[in-house]
Parts: sequence; structure tokens; C-alpha cells
Amino acid sequence: MKRTKAVLIIGGSGFVGSHLARRLRNKYKVFATYYQHQIRIPEVTMLPLDVTERNWIKRVIYGIQPDVIIYAAGKNNPQWADDHSRDAEQIHTNGAASVSTVASILQPRMIYLSNSHVFDGSRGNYKEEDVILPHSPLGKMKVSGENYIRTRSLNYIILRSGPLLGIGNGIEMTLIDRLRIALSKGKKLELSPYDFQSYTSIYGIIDLIEKLIEGGPRNKVLHYGGLNKLSEYELGIEFAKYFGYDPSIILEKRYAGEENDLYYSDYSLNFTQAISTLKAQPFFLKQCFDLIKQNFVG
Ligand SMILES: NC(=O)c1ccc[n+]([C@@H]2O[C@H](COP(=O)([O-])OP(=O)(O)OC[C@H]3O[C@@H](n4cnc5c(N)ncnc54)[C@H](OP(=O)(O)O)[C@@H]3O)[C@@H](O)[C@H]2O)c1
Repeated sequence: MKRTKAVLIIGGSGFVGSHLARRLRNKYKVFATYYQHQIRIPEVTMLPLDVTERNWIKRVIYGIQPDVIIYAAGKNNPQWADDHSRDAEQIHTNGAASVSTVASILQPRMIYLSNSHVFDGSRGNYKEEDVILPHSPLGKMKVSGENYIRTRSLNYIILRSGPLLGIGNGIEMTLIDRLRIALSKGKKLELSPYDFQSYTSIYGIIDLIEKLIEGGPRNKVLHYGGLNKLSEYELGIEFAKYFGYDPSIILEKRYAGEENDLYYSDYSLNFTQAISTLKAQPFFLKQCFDLIKQNFVG
């Protein structure tokens, strides 16, 4: 009889990690870690884990002997990484190094979640083989995290994605949670009109990760994003219109010295490889909103 794979999600209490755990538990033995927020997900074994505690990481990994480790620890927030550079580096870079070093004896499949901030944001539509030149501290930390994974794992995937749209787990508010709350209360919300990204659905990346657990390429970088390129402000307006709120509540965030073009950045990703090799589903924004709506109802 075929053995059920064991999947360990580092950062299982986060937005991405908890969505993943809920999906994967139907098919695999799922172990998910938390740091400060102990959550309960039925049929998922939750374990405390701090990525700075190497001995504990060893005990967890050797105890579980996972077939797959998904590294989903760390906030995807450039401002937070600027303001908390030490903590952010511990999670995005050093934690990835510790986990991949400890796991190197067992050599599970490693899936490291990265983002588009590894690029400089000057032109967008970035492909996997394009030169990485991060400007932000978060981008630099992600590049270092990616490099540790590359050098320590013989079976890795670095999955860079655009911002993921979905409802949060009640701990960290996602952009969708912030929009929903502000719009339903009629409270003004300022969003940046300058950063263009290929927003996509959390469910799209989870589908893709499921495929990567079962197979797909090894030792590669893969991109994943959505088909619409928008700024945070444009996304807010579209969200308001789709869900029948007043879009005039969404305001453009203004910055000092914004009259020059320096503020515009385009971090959109080209993800044709994921579509051609893994049949990853590309989503239009409306489809992302449809899925959020279905999830509300669910
Ligand atoms: N969200 C996106 O749109 C997006 C897009 C592309 C890539 N990613 C990447 O996906 C990953 C997860 O993002 P997210 O949005 O799910 O973030 P999140 O909701 O902020 O979750 C962060 C997770 O990291 C854990 N964590 C924090 N400090 C830790 C530590 N010292 N040791 C161990 N775990 C620690 C948190 O645990 P506690 O909450 O229990 O403290 C939580 O489980 C990040 O690496 C991010 O860059 C996310």
C-alpha cells in the first residue's frame, strides 16, 4: 500500500500556512508549526517552533521525517521588514538556512515561498531567469533565503509569487480583510497607487503547491501570479465595485516628494513556465474575487 506523505509546514499558523494546512490535510499527514499564535486546525498536528532554535528544529524534523517541507514563515510586508530588520532576517534568511541545513541529512522536497521583491521593480513581467537585483531589505532577505535553500537542498523549489488574495485566519489581517472591514464600516482607506503587482488568489498557489508536492521540476525557481497587473489602490477600487461598496472611500496614498517618477515600481511576474510545465491556473482578478465570495458563503 502506498504510504501517505508527511508534509511539514513551517509557519503553519500564518495566512498562507493555515490555508495550506487546511487543504493538504485531506491528502497528507500534515504537521504545521506556530510561533506566537497557537491555532487549532482539525486533523493537523500543530507544533511550536521558533526558527532561531536550531536544536528544536532538529528534534521536530528528525521526529517527523517529512517527505516535504514548505517554508512559509515570515511576514510578506516590506515595511515590516524595514522596521524590524533583525527579526525579519532571522525568519526569511537565517531560519531558511537552519531548516534546510538540518533537513539536508533527510533530503525532503523543500518548497521555499519567496516573492517578487527579489527584483528591482523597474520594469515588471519578470521571468525566472531574469537578473535579481533587490532594492528593499525584504527582497535582499528573500534572495539570501533562496540561496541557502539552493546550496543545501538536492530537491528544492523556490516559488516566487505576487501578493496573494484571500481571507486571513484572524491573526494577521490580509489586504482583503482590511478592505472588507474599512468598506463595510464606510471608513476611508489609503492605498498606494505606485506599486504594481500581479495579484493572484491564495487558492491558485495552493493548487500549484499540491502539484509540486506530487512531482514537477526539481531544483528550479518558479513564478506564480495573476493575469491583472494593478496597484494596491486600483485593487481596492475593483474590490469595492465587485462587492457593491462605495469605491470613493478608497483613497490614493500620498508620499512626500511624489511628483517624481521614482515612486512607481512594477513587480509583476511572468509565470508562463508554471502554466506550461504544471498547468498552473492563471486567474483574472474577477476570478480571485469570485473565490473569495464563495469562501465567505462557505
Ligand atoms: N502573503 C502573501 O501575499 C505572500 C506572497 C508571496 C510570498 N509570501 C511568503 O509566504 C510566507 C508566509 O506569508 P504570510 O502572508 O502567510 O505571513 P504571515 O501570515 O505573517 O505568517 C507568518 C508565519 O511565520 C511565523 N513566524 C513568525 N516568526 C517566526 C519565528 N521566529 N519562528 C517560526 N515561525 C515564525 C508566524 O507564526 P505566529 O503567527 O504563530 O507567530 C506565522 O506562522 C512569507 O515568507 C512570505 O514572504 C507571501
